[in-house]
Amino acid sequence: MSVIILGIESSCDDTSAAIIRDGCLLSNLISNQDVHMAFGGVVPELASRAHQANIIPVVDRAIKQANISKSEISAVAFTRGPGLLGSLLVGSSFAKGFSLALNIPLIGINHLQGHILAHFIQDKGILKHPTFPFLCLLVSGGHTQLVVVRDFLDMEIIGQTIDDAAGEAFDKCAKIMGLPYPGGPIIDKLAAIGNPTAFKFAKPLQQGLDFSFSGLKTSFLYFLRDRIAENPNFIEEKKADLCASLQFTIISILLEKVEKAAKATKITEIAIAGGVSANSGLRGALTQLGAKNGWSVYIPEFRFTTDNAAMIGIAGYYKYLKGEFSGHDVMPLARFPL
Ligand code: KG4
Ligand code: ZN
Repeated sequence: MSVIILGIESSCDDTSAAIIRDGCLLSNLISNQDVHMAFGGVVPELASRAHQANIIPVVDRAIKQANISKSEISAVAFTRGPGLLGSLLVGSSFAKGFSLALNIPLIGINHLQGHILAHFIQDKGILKHPTFPFLCLLVSGGHTQLVVVRDFLDMEIIGQTIDDAAGEAFDKCAKIMGLPYPGGPIIDKLAAIGNPTAFKFAKPLQQGLDFSFSGLKTSFLYFLRDRIAENPNFIEEKKADLCASLQFTIISILLEKVEKAAKATKITEIAIAGGVSANSGLRGALTQLGAKNGWSVYIPEFRFTTDNAAMIGIAGYYKYLKGEFSGHDVMPLARFPL
């Protein structure tokens, strides 16, 4: 008999529902929240209200698009954390109600594990998946980690940021330049027409496999402050070069550590995951670095990079196979280490 999982993601500002049957994607609906754009970042209270308004229609559409009936669903998987507590509460409360009403298992998922397991979603056009053990650079708005993935549910963090996440560095520097939130995709677009070596920004002297991005943000801020004092139109005139140089610096900080981690672990299966893995510069640079080092590189399709419920559904599928279910007293966790 088929295993059909309803996945629900509501950790930040995207409300998403997906249906996965035996590891294959049947539907993946995402309702984005434009309400935060004007505020330069996600406003937690507005995010929870929008999740409340969106969750039922999104789940309803995901079930209809998958062409299944509710009674066929084997289990409901939801993001337990990490994330904004008010947002997580909406998804987890809905999932609990759904599980109780249909008398099916409830499965709490770590959002970060979901990002990594997105590599195993089976769908048209996706031909290759990493083999274990692989090394995954998980880069999102809240996390930057190097993870050794030994099995679907066996992961170990071997390096992580000691301050800002890579996505945060993109978003905060974008804000300094007066660009709207989220800044990562806008910097990516502008960088494509700029010169990556126009400006040089300091890279951190972080030892080992850990990352640091707060120094880069500060040096970017001071650099602009000094240039604007000389020329008030500096940002407008040099926007593309600034974006390209900043992106180049962030990518080299990330990839230097990936290379170091690959050498230290002797792992040659290398993957990226999370919102920042949508960055075209990072995707291109990792592909090149992989070719140079003889790695097999795994880059997720764009639709599975930023937050989505398909990744929660696939993680739910592997937990279902192992019988790892949650009780109805399970609480969402704002902090939830991998
Ligand atoms: O994984 P995600 O959707 O949410 C979190 O779990 O944090 O990641 C969102 C982050 C934001 O910081 C956003 O600016 C960044 O991913 N991002 C990008 C790109 N697309 C999204 N950063 C750089 N280039 C992109 N194309
Ligand atoms: Zn995420």
